[in-house]
Amino acid sequence: MADFTSGFWTWFISLTTIVSILGVLIFLLKCSKRDPDEDPNNVKTMGHVWDGDLEEYNNPLPTWWFYWFILTIVWAAVYLIFYPGLGSYAGVLGWTQVNQLEDEMQVAEEKYGPIYQQYLNTDIAELVKDDAALKVGERIYASYCTTCHGSDARGGRGFPNLRDNDWLYGGEPENIKTTLLNGRQGAMPAWGEMLSTEQIFSLTSYVEQLAGREVDSMIASKGGELFKTNCAMCHGAEGKGNYMFGAPNLTDDIWLYGGSQKKITETLLIGRNGKMPAHKEFLGEAKIHVLTAYIYSLSNN
Ligand code: HEC
Ligand code: HEC
Repeated sequence: MADFTSGFWTWFISLTTIVSILGVLIFLLKCSKRDPDEDPNNVKTMGHVWDGDLEEYNNPLPTWWFYWFILTIVWAAVYLIFYPGLGSYAGVLGWTQVNQLEDEMQVAEEKYGPIYQQYLNTDIAELVKDDAALKVGERIYASYCTTCHGSDARGGRGFPNLRDNDWLYGGEPENIKTTLLNGRQGAMPAWGEMLSTEQIFSLTSYVEQLAGREVDSMIASKGGELFKTNCAMCHGAEGKGNYMFGAPNLTDDIWLYGGSQKKITETLLIGRNGKMPAHKEFLGEAKIHVLTAYIYSLSNN
């Protein structure tokens, strides 16, 4: 498959390549011949002089050098027949980087497939005790998860910390595995249009109170009433969260989106929709199984 968007580039690249090679060849042939009128015993100099008496004579290239040069040109021609190099021409071998990668993946699959299969047949509770398996999990984590959860797995704003014991979707091996296989989509509605500024303010106070802070109890109790009708269905009557919806525990002062009064208000006004991508198709169940053991070990060792 050619990556070119128009046929022009194929011709442009092919012609530039061929003309350059021919040009080098002609130049080489020209330089390798002595001027027939010249006396070989009295070669002219190029006019360059170094250190007073070191002069450059206008001699042709040494024969061995000349043939090496010709050989590189022949090599280029043969290469361009067998391998892609001239625009979208694929080369007679049909070699592509994609094919090569697929072959390498195949070899890797044959080598590592059985090892992963064995891991897959082992309970996660057992895998957690297997240092070699955890090392494998750590490497998978480093390759695919650090961009969002950080190289230390402590997360960042909007990306959960995977080392603590606070979970959106549950921290048992089966919860974690489901998260990794199918992904998760957090759905905290935006309340900016449904509630008044005053109501948002009292809810923010109530959320702060849940987290254990000193707030105006009159305002917070108004927020508490609103919480019962609008929020408890997801966050629970006591605000301790619900793994089913990925609704965070609001009583622990651990925050996904920041716990300042300003940030809490912002969460309430605009809503939050964190997305954990599914990795089932991408990594396959066996790798995810080992990875689950690693993630589980972060908060359970
Ligand atoms: C594109 C960014 C992104 C990548 C890549 C990503 N995650 Fe996530 N992950 C998230 C977000 C965002 C959430 C929180 C979802 C939510 O807010 O509901 C999350 C949630 C999780 C959770 C649930 C935490 C809890 O408290 O229940 C686990 C476990 C997890 N990720 C592990 C991983 C692992 C392991 C990988 C590597 C395969 C990974 N993630 C790759 C963004 C990402
Ligand atoms: C439909 C279920 C649902 C309802 C109703 C709901 N929430 Fe949420 N809430 C969530 C989810 C899910 C998250 C996590 C969002 C994410 O992971 O991106 C969340 C996140 C939050 C956060 C951020 C916590 C943090 O750690 O940063 C606060 C604060 C919050 N909700 C308060 C409320 C309040 C107050 C109400 C009522 C006005 C409410 N929620 C109603 C599901 C809900």
